[in-house]
Amino acid sequence: MGSPRIIMKLIVAGVHVEPGDVRVIELKHHRRPLLPAFEPGSHVDVHLPIGKVRQYSLCGDPEDLSRYTIAVKRENGGRGGSAWIHDQLTPGAELPVTAPRNHFPLKESDGPVLLLAGGIGITPIFAMARALWRQGKPFELHYFARSRSLAPLLGALEKTISSENLRLHLDDQVETRQDLEELLSTRPSGAQLYYCGPPGFMAAVALASEDWPDGTVNFEAFQPLVQDDTPPEPFMIVLRNGAVVSVPADKSALSAIRAAGVLLMASCENGVCGTCECGYLEGQPIHRDAVLPSNARSHRFIPCVSRATGVLKLDL
Ligand code: FES
Repeated sequence: MGSPRIIMKLIVAGVHVEPGDVRVIELKHHRRPLLPAFEPGSHVDVHLPIGKVRQYSLCGDPEDLSRYTIAVKRENGGRGGSAWIHDQLTPGAELPVTAPRNHFPLKESDGPVLLLAGGIGITPIFAMARALWRQGKPFELHYFARSRSLAPLLGALEKTISSENLRLHLDDQVETRQDLEELLSTRPSGAQLYYCGPPGFMAAVALASEDWPDGTVNFEAFQPLVQDDTPPEPFMIVLRNGAVVSVPADKSALSAIRAAGVLLMASCENGVCGTCECGYLEGQPIHRDAVLPSNARSHRFIPCVSRATGVLKLDL
């Protein structure tokens, strides 16, 4: 896995349309036959010429490093990145893309794996399903969509894994629908759950999997999970060298730390990519990100969106 700070200039080798207002983009290097390796669940940061950086899961085959494949859904009411890709990006264009990173890895386990995807959340889940299928591991992929005609990558998925491993839950076919609570009420011994999808889907799965044991639930969100309307409070940060940084209510911890002269990388500034992640040593953070796994929340912090009560000592 390459460093996230390596940025490669990749060429758009192909664009095709998928159901659900999705464009699939193939990216290649104009000289190098092979790109840095990646694992299922990995994503890249794509630097758009409109000054935006967006994270997209790699949904192609990790055994074919001649290209990266991403799938981009047009987000109406989004912040403009997906609209630019849909309306402006054409084959032959050059895009700066970081080497892959993985905040959503498949864990080593011999137990059964339950994969849940909602709509465009199929992108990392597809890569996982392909890997599990190849490895002959026991898994079920439950794909939730409004209809077949709005389910991106479904055709490719059906050609890649067995129909025995795939369950479709389509809103327009009553007989295929299944209640999430019912689905997640059985937890086979040693099972791991992975899920990805839009915010409503994420919230529903989080609720339905509340009783799953710690360390068995894994997810990747496109937006922060916490929609907290509480007005942010000011707080203080103490750095390792003893410097005290105040974070006003209208600024992020990231911007306050940077203003204090600490160089901290960031990308999405939305709590979903993990680029700005750092450690904390003391204090009570208020986690508002969608990237840290629960077992990291006792010592890691995402300063672009998370805050704290009182004083937070960072490992910076
Ligand atoms: S910059 Fe992406 S999580 Fe902070």
